[in-house]
Amino acid sequence: MATMAAAISTLSILLMAWTIKAVDGAGIGISYGRDASNLRPPVQVAQFLAHSTTFDCLKLFDADPATVQAFANTDLAVAVTMPNDLVANLTDLRFAHKWVRTNIVPRVDDTNIARILVGNEVISTANRSLVSSLVPAMQNLHTVLTSLSLQHRIKVASPQSLGVLSTSNPPSTGKFREGRVAEVMRPLLSFLRATGSPFMVNAYPFFGFAVDTLDYALFRPNPGVEDQHTGLIYSNMLDGQLDAVFSAMKRLGFDDVDIVIAETGWPSVGDPWELGVNVDNARDYNKNLVRHVSSGTGTPLMPNRTFEAYIFSLFDENLKPGPLSQRNFGLFHPDLLPVYDIGVLRTEVGGQATAPVQTLNPTPSDSKRWCIPKPNTDVLLLQQNVEYVCGQGIDCTPIQPGGVCNFPDTVPAHAAFLMNEYYQAFGRNAFDCDFGRTGMITGIDPSYGSCVYSS
Ligand SMILES: *[C@@H]1O[C@H](CO)[C@@H](O)[C@H](O)[C@H]1NC(C)=O
Ligand SMILES: *[C@@H]1O[C@H](CO)[C@@H](O)[C@H](O)[C@H]1NC(C)=O
Ligand SMILES: *[C@@H]1O[C@H](CO)[C@@H](O)[C@H](O)[C@H]1NC(C)=O
Repeated sequence: MATMAAAISTLSILLMAWTIKAVDGAGIGISYGRDASNLRPPVQVAQFLAHSTTFDCLKLFDADPATVQAFANTDLAVAVTMPNDLVANLTDLRFAHKWVRTNIVPRVDDTNIARILVGNEVISTANRSLVSSLVPAMQNLHTVLTSLSLQHRIKVASPQSLGVLSTSNPPSTGKFREGRVAEVMRPLLSFLRATGSPFMVNAYPFFGFAVDTLDYALFRPNPGVEDQHTGLIYSNMLDGQLDAVFSAMKRLGFDDVDIVIAETGWPSVGDPWELGVNVDNARDYNKNLVRHVSSGTGTPLMPNRTFEAYIFSLFDENLKPGPLSQRNFGLFHPDLLPVYDIGVLRTEVGGQATAPVQTLNPTPSDSKRWCIPKPNTDVLLLQQNVEYVCGQGIDCTPIQPGGVCNFPDTVPAHAAFLMNEYYQAFGRNAFDCDFGRTGMITGIDPSYGSCVYSS
């Protein structure tokens, strides 16, 4: 709890200090994977998401009762997942009834459960019995929800990977794989159309780019790619992937079924051989993604629309197998501090700076005082403070790469740490925290993790 309180108070200070404009969060969600040994309890995570971020929906990879319950009385729309190993069980209607009664019904009065996702990437598992269970399982769930009059509130869907496509480039040639995939895609899309549910797809430009298409994958300025068949110009890879899915659906006559991005993201740390993995690229991808899918631009084949999208992932997950990048897709460290900032932290409500998390866990620490930057201080002025302090004999190694306060690697965070070091070392006078009127004194300990602020 103590560490949590410290982390939260640091965060609130960083929130105050960063002049982040909340993005229009309509339909921007986050995947809350829990394949880690060091995460905060779900209740703290839920409060953090609800009060300190602009996300308005989230996706769980299971339906763990304690985790779902943590989101009770928040505005967040929750998508729960039926794990792949229970999909076949759902073909038994009695099992479906029991599952909904046990996992969904107890929560419907206080929790905004908006979707039940049946499995994850079931079709590309190529497990014949699992794949053939998929649509009957979804139908049974829908039948149960209908019997409880919940079918309009809770939609049944099933995220698939781009592996269901045999062709995706150029986008207009997008096509589902022949044979078993096409066999299940038709009934799946019919079910989705009949129930008003979207086709959900996990789309990762990270797994599709090459050296010469990095900027294209990251939504950075680039020459664009023309689809020779349509003459349409693509400015980013995600649009190409979505339009390939759209083309494949259209080919089967289902272009009226909505598309939702069930997962997308970019890792911030990877093995040395992994291309394009670093914090700058992860930040650019996710930040540009949010801007793009909520801009209303749409894609060349689906113009003038927004997309509901779930960023993968909320946290770095230290128990995930595979290359190092797999454990580093998180926007946040397990202690809730940002790995990098994409503008989803809530800072201002009605034009006034607020620090909502502060009220969660107030830690008035008697006579202790710390010096931090004033809210909304110009980053250039804060950079001058950093240089000034480092020129005054204060140890600046903690904020440097490898130092305990290097993360978050931002000027406001580094300035906060160093301005306090200066204030403490030079006698804790009010004028030691003046910094040309850019500093302020606080009673809340900004320390977090192993980054300990002097007091
Ligand atoms: C699901 O079905 C499998 C195979 O029939 C069975 O072993 C398992 O116990 C079932 N799971 C639940 C939760 O009922
Ligand atoms: C395929 O799916 C079925 C039903 O979920 C499961 O019982 C079986 O273990 C799976 N087979 C493999 C090889 O994973
Ligand atoms: C999309 O918006 C643009 C600009 O408002 C408009 O010219 C165009 O006709 C719209 N396209 C569609 C398909 O609605």
